[in-house]
Amino acid sequence: MDSGPLSEPPSRSLKGKVAIVTGAGCLGDGIGNGRAISILLADDGCDVLCVDLNLEWANKTVEMITAKPHRGRAISFRADVTSQADCESAVQAAIENFGRLDILVNNVGIGGAPGTAVDVDMVEWAKSMEINVASMVQMSKYAIPAMARNEGETKGSIVNMGSVAGLKGGTPHLLYPTSKGAIVNLTRAMAAHHAAEGIRVNCVCPGMLYTPMIADLAFQAIFPDELLDRCTSWDNVLAWDT
Ligand SMILES: NC(=O)c1ccc[n+]([C@@H]2O[C@H](COP(=O)([O-])OP(=O)(O)OC[C@H]3O[C@@H](n4cnc5c(N)ncnc54)[C@H](O)[C@@H]3O)[C@@H](O)[C@H]2O)c1
Repeated sequence: MDSGPLSEPPSRSLKGKVAIVTGAGCLGDGIGNGRAISILLADDGCDVLCVDLNLEWANKTVEMITAKPHRGRAISFRADVTSQADCESAVQAAIENFGRLDILVNNVGIGGAPGTAVDVDMVEWAKSMEINVASMVQMSKYAIPAMARNEGETKGSIVNMGSVAGLKGGTPHLLYPTSKGAIVNLTRAMAAHHAAEGIRVNCVCPGMLYTPMIADLAFQAIFPDELLDRCTSWDNVLAWDT
């Protein structure tokens, strides 16, 4: 006999799930997006591989996660997401240490090459696009087959870090909004490609958050004063909100 609809909602706990977060480090005690995401995932019980170019920064994220009990496990892993071999090794490390992979957060992103179409350096442009966009494909290339081995209807979830700049433009430099706009459509196309395999692909497009990237004076030079004032004076526009 059909027992009808479930009376209890499905669990939202991430216990037993495994995530990779790229750009999981952050300078000092700062809370960048990747660090905040890693801590919040672990808080929900998820085991997290904290990937960063800077191992010391990733180590600090792991230290912050393990400072509180009852969280998921966390391991730091040094990788450059523009290196195909490093991306493959990161996925292998998640499998070797935690036994599976459920979630990939493609968080790495930089301000990138400065300038308009007229004055931007095209070598810098290509390198920045590689960091901001191609790296997400490269991580997914290895993560998707690992997720596809999971049981159940929903096998995995990929979250790409976009930006409101990718929807609206609005910075004086061309690279950042172009790369973030590419991520929006990359996400749409990937979502269609992998839905049948049970892998969801989504994109978050935060507005300006007061992370160490934004606190950096060189980065601040690209924003109008009123936008910076708004970002630095709001209490709630921190990486935790991502
Ligand atoms: N801060 C904001 O206002 C804001 C708003 C919208 C979106 N975002 C996006 O959020 C993401 C993180 O931003 P953040 O402000 O926390 O940045 P952040 O600079 O504080 O952190 C980025 C991390 O990525 C690491 N990293 C850089 N290149 C790497 C590479 N090649 N391989 C591996 N790791 C690498 C850095 O070492 C650093 O730890 C970016 O994609 C950014 O575009 C930020």
